Amino acid sequence: MAIIGVLKEPQGESRVAATPNSVKALIKKGCEVVIEAGAGASAFISDEEYRKAGAKIEKPAKVFSSDIILAVNASQAKGKKHPFQAMKKGAIWISFFLPQLEEKSLALAKEKGIGIFSMNLIPRISRAQSMDALTSQSTVAGYKAVLLATSHLPRMFPLMITASGTIRPAKVVILGAGVAGLQAIATARRLGAQVEASDVRQAAKEQVESLGAKFIEVPNAENLEDTGGYAKEASKEFLQKQSEEVAKHIAQADVVIATALVPGKKAPILVTKAMVESMKNGSVIVDLAAQMGGNCELTKPGDTLNHNGITIIGHTNIAGTVAADASEMYAQNLVNFLNGMLKEGKIEINPEDEVYKAAKVSP
Ligand code: NAI
Repeated sequence: MAIIGVLKEPQGESRVAATPNSVKALIKKGCEVVIEAGAGASAFISDEEYRKAGAKIEKPAKVFSSDIILAVNASQAKGKKHPFQAMKKGAIWISFFLPQLEEKSLALAKEKGIGIFSMNLIPRISRAQSMDALTSQSTVAGYKAVLLATSHLPRMFPLMITASGTIRPAKVVILGAGVAGLQAIATARRLGAQVEASDVRQAAKEQVESLGAKFIEVPNAENLEDTGGYAKEASKEFLQKQSEEVAKHIAQADVVIATALVPGKKAPILVTKAMVESMKNGSVIVDLAAQMGGNCELTKPGDTLNHNGITIIGHTNIAGTVAADASEMYAQNLVNFLNGMLKEGKIEINPEDEVYKAAKVSP
């Protein structure tokens, strides 16, 4: 019977890799689930709730002796002993994991024969949609980014015609209409804002328009979509043309939500200092690309700052601020990912399966 361990995440991460629902599903698959005491506290899940679902609550040493460890970001724990040092030889680690940022973890994994599967690398094929944690967490982040903007904006989103006068709807510009961007469009539209969006993939135009927003066209744009549905890196000429077009819309915007990413690359700069300075006093920029450097030239990853009256939010873990639902979705992604590698409670991985092949980082 495979033992699945779930760690308490390091400080700064409020999500957790299992919930009572996912514990029940894993037990149903014939596994034993061991959870570190207090692991769910910041996602508002008590040890008692895990216990009721059938998990054992243990100290870290016991959790580390599991066959499979599930985590959100715990491999990046700072200042503590690296979790791979505490794991048993040949065990499996599954979490968000960017190999390019994890040199030390990769060396340790090699030394101990630890198999790492990265939730960042789930292929974007229909069969893997239910395991796609990037999508689930971007959905949460796109929604919450809009709410963060509303709470900083000194204006309201909807059109209001009242006896005290007419309040114009807020203008929101979304840069990058992928999963997070589309969710941000839908949320801002529900709140009554006028929304415009820009993307380098032509397929995004129809999706933006179907949500009732306007697509910002770049004259003579080429379609920069790769075969996996992601954006290709744009040329300098394209970025220049896009920048000129987008600048006009940003100058009119109350809120900019920037989500533009190119896998494995630093985020493109789409909002320059001059563009920030062209915005109305009190406007807000939420830079969801902050973790990859940011789409705004002035973003400070991890900080919120005020530049000449413009608030720039560079929060690097917005999904983590909606910890209960984000954890529920992530834990379900993990259950779906584990489904194909557990046969009657035993680990059996088909090395030819394209999902496991793509997500495997080590050995
Ligand atoms: P992402 O997080 O890597 O990028 C966000 C958005 O930024 C993308 O739409 C990208 O085109 C855009 N972008 C990049 N450079 C830009 C620039 N210079 N200016 C403006 N926008 C720029 O991508 P995400 O959101 O994770 O997914 C992208 C696409 O992947 C989706 O829209 C969808 O078509 C596809 N997808 C497929 C799935 C499946 O089949 N299972 C699941 C999820 C997404």
